[in-house]
Amino acid sequence: MQISVDNERIVSDLDKLASFSDTEAPAVTRIVYSESDNRARAWLKEQCLASGLAVREDAIGNMFARWQGAEGDGGVVGTGSHIDAIPHSGRYDGTAGVIGGLEAIRALKRAGFNPKRSIELLTFISEEPTRFGIGCLGSRMLSGSLTPEKASTLQDAKGESLDTLRAAAHYQGPLDMVRLPAGYYSSFVELHIEQGPILEKEEVPIGVVTHIAGPAALRILIEGEGGHAGAVLMPHRRDAFLGAAEIALGLEDSVLSTGAIDTVGTCGLVDVFPGLGNSIPSRVKLELDIRDTVAGRRDAVISHTEKKCQDIANKRKLKITCTILNADEPAGCDPTVVTAIVRACEADGFLYWRMVSRAYHDSLFMARIAPAAMIFIPCKGGVSHRPDEFAAPTDLANGTRVLARTLAALASQ
Ligand code: GLV
Ligand code: MN
Ligand code: MN
Repeated sequence: MQISVDNERIVSDLDKLASFSDTEAPAVTRIVYSESDNRARAWLKEQCLASGLAVREDAIGNMFARWQGAEGDGGVVGTGSHIDAIPHSGRYDGTAGVIGGLEAIRALKRAGFNPKRSIELLTFISEEPTRFGIGCLGSRMLSGSLTPEKASTLQDAKGESLDTLRAAAHYQGPLDMVRLPAGYYSSFVELHIEQGPILEKEEVPIGVVTHIAGPAALRILIEGEGGHAGAVLMPHRRDAFLGAAEIALGLEDSVLSTGAIDTVGTCGLVDVFPGLGNSIPSRVKLELDIRDTVAGRRDAVISHTEKKCQDIANKRKLKITCTILNADEPAGCDPTVVTAIVRACEADGFLYWRMVSRAYHDSLFMARIAPAAMIFIPCKGGVSHRPDEFAAPTDLANGTRVLARTLAALASQ
C-alpha cells in the first residue's frame, strides 16, 4: 500500500494546537480544563469530525474519534496520546501522537484502505500531573486503575474538585461510566517524541518501545517553626527547609546507591512558607518523582526515603508526613504490537532501535487492558518539557507513516 503523509498538515496542526496556550510562544502551557485546554479540545474535535470520524467524549473528557471498520465493533484498534502541556513546556509532547494519529488515519483513508476492525484516535484527558498531582488521569480511569470514588476526591491546588472542574468543562455523567469494558481494544499503539537523546544521537529515525518505566510520586509536608532570620539563634531553630534539603540530598544518595542507570529521582517541587529572605521557613511542601524499570528497586528507594524522613524529623524536631501519590508498575509492551511496528519500519526501510521509555505515557495504563506498544521519534537534543522542545517535520512524518502501517496491519487482523 502506498501511504502518503501530509507533512505540512502535521506541522500546521501542531502550530495551531500550540496557539492554545497560557504562556507566550514558544512556551506552551495548557493545563487540563483551563480555557486554553478546553478550546484546544474543541478545535481538535472539529478536525476529527471534518476527517469523517465519529466522536464521543466520556464523563471525564477522554475523546474517542472512530473510523468504523467493516466488521462491527468487536476489538477496536486504538491510537493516540494527550494534548495537555505542563507550564512552560513545548509543542510536541503528546500532541505529536494525537496529530500524528489523526494524520495516520487520514493517510490510510487517502490510500483507499478499508479497516476490518474499527480504528479509534484517543485523546486522553490530563496525562500531566500538573493540576491534580497524579499523571495519566484519563487512561488510569479507562483502565480501571483509579476508582471513581478515589477520582472524586481529587482536587487542584486551589481546592477545586475534579467533579466541579469537569462539569465546568461540560463533561458530565457518573465517573463509573469511564472504565472501558474488557476487550474493548484489541490493541493500542502510541506515537510520541522520545524525550531523550538516543535516537537523534544515533541517527535512528524510529524507536520501538519494549518497556515503560514505572513512575512514583511522593508528597512530603515538613512542619517546623518560623521566626526572625536574625534573632533566632541556630541552636534553637526548627527550620523546615533544612529538613527538606536533607530529604532531597537523601533521595539522590538512595537513587545512586541502587547502581542501576534506570533508577532516577527528582525533587522538582519545593514550596517554602512563608517564602521570605528574612523569615525562617516554617513549612515546606516537596514533591518527589522516582522511577525505574524494576518496580522492586524503585519501591526500595521509596521505603528508604520514608525512613530518612523519620530520621530527619527526629534529628531536627520537625513534623514530617510523607504521602505516596502513586507508585505504578512498569509495563512491558506486547510482542505482537511490537512486531507490527517492526514490520511497518521494514516495509518503508526505516532503521529502528528497540528501547525503554523512561518517561511515562498513557500506554503504561493502556497496556493493562490491551496489547500495547509505542513508536518513538527523535527530538532535538533529547529536550522535552521545555519551550525549545523540537521534532523535525521529517521525523514527525516518518513516525506517522510507521504508525499508519502499524494501524493498518492491526486493523486487518
Ligand atoms: C510525563 O510527562 C512524564 O513526566 O513522564
Ligand atoms: Mn509530558
Ligand atoms: Mn507525553
